[in-house]
Amino acid sequence: MKRLVVLISGNGSNLQALIDAIIAGSLEAEIVQVLSNEPEACGLLRAQQAHIPTMVCAHKHFPHKAAFESALKDAILPLKPDYIILAGFMRILSADFVHTFEGQILNIHPSLLPRYPGLHTHAQALADGAKIHGATVHLVTAELDAGPIIAYSTLEVRPEDTPETLGARVLKLEHRLYPAAITGLATGRICPFQVK
Ligand code: GRF
Repeated sequence: MKRLVVLISGNGSNLQALIDAIIAGSLEAEIVQVLSNEPEACGLLRAQQAHIPTMVCAHKHFPHKAAFESALKDAILPLKPDYIILAGFMRILSADFVHTFEGQILNIHPSLLPRYPGLHTHAQALADGAKIHGATVHLVTAELDAGPIIAYSTLEVRPEDTPETLGARVLKLEHRLYPAAITGLATGRICPFQVK
């Protein structure tokens, strides 16, 4: 049984997908803690409803990023997680933090990486006239949205799509993709590496 710590900042629909997959038995893991940098994150309520311990580590209360990340590390290390799951966590982690948990931090990103790292991915895909779009789960490295890819899921862009309709369909893909990618990694079926 893999121990997961899930980091969120907002709605937490991906967190919910993980909770649901664990309940359904398709993801053999335990979420030992949900951590949010935003005290008002809806995802905290989702965790509480599922009886998962929650903690707020509000970045705004720290004088600088290093202090925030040091508190985050202090909270996570005693939990001895197998994986740290970023699920809509809106802070960029420093190289120092990433190195502490080398190979253990996963992120889900709403585009087919390496296309459209960062924000506003659906609008960018539409502006580009992309025919195919989707979501990617990858290992987190010090470089933003650029670590080894674990799994991805695709869809066809429709002519009538807006960033909102496209984003909603991609989010649905994410909810199936994230539990499946974690399972693949945890069972050793997926073994990510990157040649640079
Ligand atoms: C998702 O689109 C995820 O890919 C991105 O942030 C969004 C989080 O949504 N990193 P939610 O909080 O899981 O609903």
